[in-house]
Amino acid sequence: MAVTAPLPRPGDAVESIDTPALVVDLDAMQANLQAMAAFARERGVRLRPHAKMHKSAAIARLQMAAGAVGVCVQKTSEAEALAAAGIDDIYISNEVIDPAKLDRVAALARRVRLAIAVDSSEGVERLAAAVARAGSAIAVFVEVDVGHGRCGAPAAAAGQLAQHVVSHAPPEGGLVFAGLQAYHGAAQHVRGAAEREAAAQHAAALARAAQASIGAAGIACPLVTGAGTGTFAFDAASGVWGELQAGSYLFMDRDYADNAPAPGAPRFAHALFVKSRVMSRGVAHAVVDAGHKSHAIDAGLPRVWLRPLDYANGGDEHGILRPRAGALAGALPALGDTVWLVPGHCDPTVNLHDRYVAVRGGLERGVVEAVWPIEARGCVS
Ligand SMILES: Cc1ncc(COP(=O)(O)O)c(C=O)c1O
Repeated sequence: MAVTAPLPRPGDAVESIDTPALVVDLDAMQANLQAMAAFARERGVRLRPHAKMHKSAAIARLQMAAGAVGVCVQKTSEAEALAAAGIDDIYISNEVIDPAKLDRVAALARRVRLAIAVDSSEGVERLAAAVARAGSAIAVFVEVDVGHGRCGAPAAAAGQLAQHVVSHAPPEGGLVFAGLQAYHGAAQHVRGAAEREAAAQHAAALARAAQASIGAAGIACPLVTGAGTGTFAFDAASGVWGELQAGSYLFMDRDYADNAPAPGAPRFAHALFVKSRVMSRGVAHAVVDAGHKSHAIDAGLPRVWLRPLDYANGGDEHGILRPRAGALAGALPALGDTVWLVPGHCDPTVNLHDRYVAVRGGLERGVVEAVWPIEARGCVS
């Protein structure tokens, strides 16, 4: 086992946290958590936040205590990790096709309330066979492609697939038809609110067509589940979605903050930071100890928090800071200074770390309240 710095302990000053570190501002996170819970309550929709984002049982528990019906994950191993840590209502909002992995899904369905998505007849058959081998039962959502062009059957095929699921219903089979999975990932980051609303409305039209296809097959569609941080307000207003799967609202990365907010939707604050420290200084630049092994850069570079500085990629372990256009050279931090970074994309950033350091009372003068393991870190299969 590698030798590492001692873990922070509750009560430690934020300043003492070793760098780089993944830090959660608990005041901001809990405001975000409550705002989304209140939104779902007021709109009369269920909330099942996506735990692919935080990968943490402690955070899932906080979300469920605030009214979430359970959590979503994308991967079998994520579901197993969170179940092992005590989360008992999990939806794998994704397709699983490998029989060996489906055996694990079916086994897990004996221990927790489990649901999964399918988008093919072959997928239904394989799932039904695994569940029969395990003697378990699982809720099944038929995924339809509502605009992303990723997974999902065409809307017109939803009825046929639902029929296939129903043909494996209890007591003979173990598949319980639960409704539709309808998630338009590409719509989430459309910057303009009007353009994003148009994409969400297009997704709603396709989801309605899928509902009609299921109705025409003589099957009741209990629920449409989907939505992300970019479109949840439009999706809830559409009357189509009965369950929201947003995940990133909780931490609010730089990429989402670059979206124009939807009118009337709750606003979310940045709650996830990488704490970094200046390790080298030049005349016109400073170097911090957090590179892209500390934060993901697929959605762009981090924003430097509350300082007029731009972050440039310095490689795996370094970030290069320069004064923003118009800022004075004096804006550069000194050797040893702490610099807070807002990651470009929270999900893959979290996946780089073993733990969160959760702090209360702000990033400047706060104290450590908890250290949470990221149980599903590395669970990508
Ligand atoms: C199926 C599904 N649902 C919900 C989400 C949550 O989206 P976000 O984290 O953007 O709120 C995602 C994210 O990729 C997803 O893939």
